[in-house]
Amino acid sequence: MDTVIVTGGASGIGAAVARLAAEQGLRAVVWDLVAVDGGSVVNVRDPEAVAAAFAAAGPVRYLVNNAGPASGGPALAFTDGLAATAGSMELVTSAWLATGPPEGSAVVNVASVAGNLVGTDSAWYSAGKAAIAGYTRHLATRIAPRVRANAVAPGFIDTPRMAGFADSALGRSLIERNPMGRAGRPEDVAAAVLFLLSPAAAYVNGVLLPVDGGWTVSQ
Ligand SMILES: NC(=O)c1ccc[n+]([C@@H]2O[C@H](COP(=O)([O-])OP(=O)(O)OC[C@H]3O[C@@H](n4cnc5c(N)ncnc54)[C@H](O)[C@@H]3O)[C@@H](O)[C@H]2O)c1
Repeated sequence: MDTVIVTGGASGIGAAVARLAAEQGLRAVVWDLVAVDGGSVVNVRDPEAVAAAFAAAGPVRYLVNNAGPASGGPALAFTDGLAATAGSMELVTSAWLATGPPEGSAVVNVASVAGNLVGTDSAWYSAGKAAIAGYTRHLATRIAPRVRANAVAPGFIDTPRMAGFADSALGRSLIERNPMGRAGRPEDVAAAVLFLLSPAAAYVNGVLLPVDGGWTVSQ
């Protein structure tokens, strides 16, 4: 049974990825600040914790870098925000690559439409998510063909960190202007992530796939 590590998998998008991965026959291992069944408490910003978690996990074929701070969370200095978003994904990916993932491995990084496609209030969030897309392109050109690297760019997805947002004036207007007429669900993003990991995406490498219901192309 192949193993997939899902960072930030205790909640929202990461939890949906872990559920779908398990349904599809993978051994899904969650790394989060919060303890869950089948998971470990791992802070993806802590190199020693990440190294110890890889040592405990055994061979890891798939990696989903999903953990990251909320743009509307505690205020972060610009460089701290970059370290928490893109920096943590580089840390985990480099530690994984050092373990020698097998031929046919894949990584998916969770960016955001707030990176490459639209600007937002938070300077570090937009910059960090754009950096994730750039880092993904770097990986795609340097670690293939052994490992493919892709990213997803979710739009507004109704997860615990966005609780109540759909009912706010801004949330309602985002939904009204979305061609799909609704917010995204964690499962919408999970399906795209599992596709990008799977052999069905064997020739997909280096893309940033929006999962936003067509919101960005309709602006
Ligand atoms: N919800 C959206 O609208 C949306 C849109 C675009 C991108 N995203 C991105 O999707 C990802 C998941 O977001 P979500 O909405 O599911 O959030 P969420 O708050 O529901 O879940 C995030 C999880 O990540 C964990 N986490 C945070 N920092 C961590 C760390 N340092 N180490 C380990 N775990 C950590 C949290 O404990 C939490 O369980 C994030 O990278 C976010 O930026 C979300």
